[in-house]
Amino acid sequence: MNETINSIKNRRSTRVFLPEQIKEEELQIIIDAGLSAPSAHNQQTWHFAVIQNKEILDQLSNAAKEVGKNVDDAFIQQLANNEKFHAFYNAPTVVIISGDKNGFMPEVDCAAATQNMHIAAESLGLGSCWVGYISYLLGSEKGEDYKKQLGIPATHQPYYATAIGYKKSSRSNAPTKRENTVSYIK
Ligand SMILES: Cc1cc2nc3c(=O)[nH]c(=O)nc-3n(C[C@H](O)[C@H](O)[C@H](O)COP(=O)(O)O)c2cc1C
Repeated sequence: MNETINSIKNRRSTRVFLPEQIKEEELQIIIDAGLSAPSAHNQQTWHFAVIQNKEILDQLSNAAKEVGKNVDDAFIQQLANNEKFHAFYNAPTVVIISGDKNGFMPEVDCAAATQNMHIAAESLGLGSCWVGYISYLLGSEKGEDYKKQLGIPATHQPYYATAIGYKKSSRSNAPTKRENTVSYIK
């Protein structure tokens, strides 16, 4: 298999990271991969907020957990009430991906950009985890001050975060694939 297919197939969510920061060169390759994603009408509706400040990441995680305590979902509440749970798994780099609400399909554009970043991270040997949890905070009124602090334009809706860092372990178990999700017409 070629390297691209290997990166796609080997990528798994990393939830245990080394504390060491990733190299600036690696960050720029990942950001550029995100910026190279397809987008509806080529609107490129995304905005990426790159955060490498542990104090701010801890604050965001704690605030997201506070909001999570009142989300109508038992698993989200369970995570929120777990003292050890960190929304970004203590990754040293986090990218928050937001889309222009006035765009044609901003959430899809942002998902394409996010996946590009995950594949790029894997191709560099880095670990990453897609974090939707943060949207409970940044998508709510309580998140408005954080949006300003992070330089996210008022016109944009934060959808996801990507947590990135060096993997603590290279072991990974691929989840089993659901069956009957493809039909072929020839
Ligand atoms: C939209 C979306 C939101 C996600 N949010 C979270 C999250 O908040 N926390 C987390 O640990 N994983 C999150 N994930 C990762 C999934 O749990 C993971 O991709 C899935 O279990 C399959 O495992 P794999 O990534 O190792 O293949 C999210 C994935 C997607 C696509």
